[in-house]
Amino acid sequence: GKVGVLFGGRSAEREISILSGSGVLQALKSKGIDAHPFDPAERSLAELEAQRFDRVFIALHGRFGEDGSLQGALELLGIPYTGSGVMASSVGMDKITTKIVWLAHGVPTPKYAVIDDNSDLAHLDRIVAELGLPLIVKPPLEGSTIGITKVTRKEDFQAAVDLAHKYDKVVLAEQFIEGREFSVPLLGSGPEARALPIVEIVAPQGNYDYQNKYFTDDTQYHCPAPLDAATTGAIQRHVENAYRALGCEGWSRIDVLLRASDNAPFLLEVNTSPGMTTHSLVPMAARAEGTSYEDLCVQILRSASL
Ligand code: DAL
Ligand code: MG
Repeated sequence: GKVGVLFGGRSAEREISILSGSGVLQALKSKGIDAHPFDPAERSLAELEAQRFDRVFIALHGRFGEDGSLQGALELLGIPYTGSGVMASSVGMDKITTKIVWLAHGVPTPKYAVIDDNSDLAHLDRIVAELGLPLIVKPPLEGSTIGITKVTRKEDFQAAVDLAHKYDKVVLAEQFIEGREFSVPLLGSGPEARALPIVEIVAPQGNYDYQNKYFTDDTQYHCPAPLDAATTGAIQRHVENAYRALGCEGWSRIDVLLRASDNAPFLLEVNTSPGMTTHSLVPMAARAEGTSYEDLCVQILRSASL
């Protein structure tokens, strides 16, 4: 049937989505699939419907692509789509709601506080007292490290909050976990969902930011991550529980920190429409299992559902 590859979009991660979607489109075509690009930022839902796609591969990141809104539209249009449904997509897009669900399911995640428009300096002081320094300030609905600051001095906290506020009305402050950084892709749905090999990320000065994620070659990746079997298994079980707790489907990628002092894992967030660029981690982990980028794209496409 006719397949649409949705990429581009209107979020701050548009540039990354174009890289992801171009790769997916080319891969599907190379496998003989009748795949066509569609950018929902430039064209209407009526045009999407008129394409008469039998299914679509969502290679959009962030708002209006990964957050459940597009998923809802596809449900209404009756077009099967890759990845999570409406609820897991919207919960997964919000790092605060994700934490609430995870904590209810016993999934370890760093301590946090929420800062809204009514927060004053005294509130920020209380957060520093509770979470300690450094702490991490994030716009909870963004991706690709956009708007994130590591605050090491109390006097820099407000500026970090102001930056995050440019993206979101509510801001997340999270305890900083000193340790190693990992990301774990998952494939499948329901009881069949499983973690792929773990990727360890070693970024310059521990700074895995937008540039070091996609554009420099200074970040090192190790996959499978050099961890003992017990730690590997423990992390994989945690991310599988976390994925199921949110009701994710098809595929995702969960970011994890391993605290240096005691090797305790902390789950940071889920990416329900992960990057598929040449620097991205899901293709890297699939390759470690012997699955090519092209076969991975076909496998994800096959999982498309309503
Ligand atoms: N948000 C980016 C695309 C990722 O998680 O891969
Ligand atoms: Mg993310």
